[in-house]
Amino acid sequence: MLMDRYQRKINYLRISVTDKCNLRCRYCLPETGVDLKSHEHILRWEELHRMVKVFVEEGIDRVRITGGEPLVRKGLLHFIEKLSLLNLKEISITTNGQLLKPVAAQLKEAGITRVNISLDTLDAEKYTWITRGGDLKKVFEGIHAALETGLDPVKLNAVVVRGFNEDEVTDLARLTKDLPLHVRFIELMPVGTCTIWGKDSFVSTDETMERMKKIGLLAPAQVTGSGPAQVWQFEGFKGTVGFISAISKHICHRCNRIRLTADGRIYPCLHGENYVNCFDLLRDGESEEKLRRIVQQVISLKPDQHHLGSQERMMSALGG
Ligand code: GTP
Ligand code: 5AD
Ligand code: SF4
Repeated sequence: MLMDRYQRKINYLRISVTDKCNLRCRYCLPETGVDLKSHEHILRWEELHRMVKVFVEEGIDRVRITGGEPLVRKGLLHFIEKLSLLNLKEISITTNGQLLKPVAAQLKEAGITRVNISLDTLDAEKYTWITRGGDLKKVFEGIHAALETGLDPVKLNAVVVRGFNEDEVTDLARLTKDLPLHVRFIELMPVGTCTIWGKDSFVSTDETMERMKKIGLLAPAQVTGSGPAQVWQFEGFKGTVGFISAISKHICHRCNRIRLTADGRIYPCLHGENYVNCFDLLRDGESEEKLRRIVQQVISLKPDQHHLGSQERMMSALGG
């Protein structure tokens, strides 16, 4: 079992399998994108798998695949098949949904149990604007394909941005009435080159929850794997609404996660500068003992809570 200095049990690994993305969401990337890692600086699937195997032996039992956009990297399905042979309780994925429909069933077959899909607005034009080119229809096709193929739960991520979608939060929440969808409202975080960050764009969870009162009464609920989210449900609705208050509330005390990036960095926290690099160890085929030590090292670096604002790191390279 992995336990950090603050008695938190660390059992959840997020793997950003690529820093590439087929969208350029305004809260995540600049219009021109960012410098991508060249091919030779990206871990091969076998190398990533070797690292994950060590993590699992040390106590990780849940893995989430993120990006960039994970579905743009070739060979992902085979990687997931390999992961599913490890002793994991679940393998999940976070995607923007653009490429999901044609592979939803294959993802499930390969071993994915649940999926989180980004969806900030129900308006096709606004969707294309915030993502700089995305197609809302494709996201909905992906959502329905995920539900039909039995991925469960299917969670939707909406970053709330003032002047963009704060007036749509009740419509997004209503998606949970007839379908077993779990919509989460995320506070905008000042990460990477988020081009719409500013105190004017920020909407707090309290404000978003206040808007929810229009729909009806909320009661606390639970959904599989709701790490940073607080989850609620409207009476009689099939799904739930969740709130990820990364800025306004302290969620670090229940953090159970670490992060591995495609270029071999292992981060103990989403925010903050600290990381250890396993790229060379994996490329040089170093011993398992050395990899194990790296895992222990990164756990020892896990901070008690995050400190915002100091880092330039890209959400697209780290996978949120
Ligand atoms: P599950 O709980 O496994 O469903 O995943 P998740 O909600 O953490 O994952 P997802 O990839 O859908 O991320 C949703 C939002 O939560 C993103 O904006 C992430 O940046 C944010 N998030 C994920 N992990 C952390 C964390 O450790 N700390 C903070 N502050 N935010 C996080
Ligand atoms: N603030 C909050 N959430 C963000 N995401 C990306 N950038 C930001 C940001 N600046 C979210 C996306 C995606 C998830 C992985 O991270 O909405 O669903
Ligand atoms: Fe948007 Fe996710 Fe791509 Fe960032 S990584 S541009 S949030 S789809």
